[in-house]
Amino acid sequence: MHNAKIAVIGAGLMGHGIAQVFALAGHDVTITDSFAQNLDTAKSRIAANLRDLGEDESAVENVRARADLAEAVRDADYVVEAVLEDLPLKQKLFAEIERHVRPDTILASNTSVIPITAIMQGLAGRERALGTHWWNPPFLVPLVEVIETEWTSPEVIARTMKLHEAAGKTPAHVKKDVPGFIGNRLQHALWREAISLVEQGICDAETVDSVVKASFGRRLPVLGPLENADLVGTDLTLAIHNTVLPAIDSRPGPSPYLQKLVADKKLGFKSDEGSPDEQAALRAALMSHLKSMRDR
Ligand SMILES: NC(=O)c1ccc[n+]([C@@H]2O[C@H](COP(=O)([O-])OP(=O)(O)OC[C@H]3O[C@@H](n4cnc5c(N)ncnc54)[C@H](O)[C@@H]3O)[C@@H](O)[C@H]2O)c1
Repeated sequence: MHNAKIAVIGAGLMGHGIAQVFALAGHDVTITDSFAQNLDTAKSRIAANLRDLGEDESAVENVRARADLAEAVRDADYVVEAVLEDLPLKQKLFAEIERHVRPDTILASNTSVIPITAIMQGLAGRERALGTHWWNPPFLVPLVEVIETEWTSPEVIARTMKLHEAAGKTPAHVKKDVPGFIGNRLQHALWREAISLVEQGICDAETVDSVVKASFGRRLPVLGPLENADLVGTDLTLAIHNTVLPAIDSRPGPSPYLQKLVADKKLGFKSDEGSPDEQAALRAALMSHLKSMRDR
C-alpha cells in the first residue's frame, strides 16, 4: 500500500504515535478522537515528537484531524483502532466503522490483551479484520505484532505486514489469536519469575533488575533466546531445563505477593515510589536508550 489512506481511531498515547509513523512514511492519515482536547492537540504532539527525534517536521502535514468518525474512515484503505482498552467500546466502534468503509478496507485493533476474535466476531467482513499490537512509544519501538484470527485472509495479513515493514517497523506474524500474543507472553513469563524471586526472599527487587541488566539483558538486542539455545546447544538447554524448570514459578495465576502489593496500594510510581527526580530520570534514561538503539 503506497500512499495509502490510513485512519487512526483514538489520539491518545498510542494513537498519535501510530499516526506519526504512518505520516512519516508518506501516507495520508486521518485521526479521530471522541475527546476534543486529545484530538485538538494530536498534531502539535506529533510535530513536537518529530522535532525531538530530528525527523522531517513537515510530515505532520500528512495528518488531518477529524471529529466525525464517519468522515475520518470514509475513504480509508486501512483503519487502526487505539481507543481505551474496553471490549464493548471496541466492538461498538468497529460495527460503526464497518458501515462507513469499503468492503476491502482492512480493520485493525491495537488492543494490548483483549482477544482480537472477541473484538471482531460481530463484523460482517471478518476476513479483513486483524490485530496489530504496537509497543510504546510507537515511533521508537520497532515491533508490531500482526495477529491473525481464524477468519483473517492471508492477503490481509500479507498487506498489513508489508504496510508496517515499509513504514520502518518490524512486523511479526502471530498465527493464532492467543492471550498476550508473543511479546507479552515472553515478557510476563520473565516478570512472574522476577516477582517470585523476591517473594521467596532469594533477593530484593533491585537485585533482580541488576542481574537482568548486567547479564542476558546485555545480549538480548543481538541474541534472542532461541539463537542463544542454538549457540549453547539444544542438549545443554535440555540439561538446564531438567534442573531449573521444576524449580521456577509455574503457578497459573498472579502471585499472592503481587496481589498483596496491590491490595496494600503499593503501586510503584503511581503511589509515589521513588522521588519525582528519580522517576523523571528513569523515564529520560529509557527514552535516551530507545533513541540510541534507533540511531544504530
Ligand atoms: N499504552 C501502551 O503502552 C499500549 C501499548 C500497546 C497497546 N495499547 C493499547 O492501545 C489502546 C490505546 O491505549 P493508549 O495507551 O493510547 O490509551 P489513551 O488513554 O492514551 O488513549 C485512548 C484514546 O481513545 C479515546 N477514545 C475513547 N473513546 C473513544 C471513542 N469512542 N472514539 C474515539 N476515541 C475514543 C480517548 O479519548 C483517548 O484519547 C488500548 O487498547 C491499549 O490497551 C497500549
